[in-house]
Amino acid sequence: MIIAVDGPAASGKGTIARALARHFNLPHLDTGLLYRAVAHTVRRLELDPTKEADAVAACDFDELTLADPGLRDDEVGQMASVVSAHPLVRAALLARQKRFAHQPGGAVLDGRDIGTVIAPDADAKLFVKATAPVRARRRHNELLSRGKAITYEQVLADIRDRDARDSHRSTAPLAQAADAAPLDTSNLSIEAAVERAISLVEGQA
Ligand code: C5P
Repeated sequence: MIIAVDGPAASGKGTIARALARHFNLPHLDTGLLYRAVAHTVRRLELDPTKEADAVAACDFDELTLADPGLRDDEVGQMASVVSAHPLVRAALLARQKRFAHQPGGAVLDGRDIGTVIAPDADAKLFVKATAPVRARRRHNELLSRGKAITYEQVLADIRDRDARDSHRSTAPLAQAADAAPLDTSNLSIEAAVERAISLVEGQA
């Protein structure tokens, strides 16, 4: 069974995807980490993330490691949304994601284009969303708990920026697949959102 979970930043898609993977006993890939790993390399080498050729030349795409805790930083997320707009970066990461999705036994992947590009053939597709203020509040609390000094207003502005970039790029923009089930987590606890996700997957698969 292939489960595709897409949605904007801080919608809850990562938490939901991990819970689905546990529930259905499937391997899970957070595809945002791939773009974050590219951004992290570009940043470390002090390259310009808007320059597609530089990002492509700097990365060994088959060797990207996804365990560095620095990948979760907000600055890396912002830069990831810049490098992820480059078609050559997306192309370089495509095979690895498709392979993961189509491994024997199935998988859960979360990202922006899983249901539309990586696994249009997925058995179940969720599009997880929440209002921008709700997502900003969650992300702000998470950053505060990790000791980052940042205001709610700054987090909200960053989220709106990232939404705009992810939705308006020409290659694989963030979009709900026609056959994806929408799941609005704005007014749901984590437990309620996970329960709803499991029943939506069971209804589709
Ligand atoms: O999901 P996360 O916030 O970790 O993703 C970081 C950035 O990577 C996103 O803002 C988006 O631009 C990009 N991304 C993408 N396609 C995916 C996953 C992430 O373009 N499948």
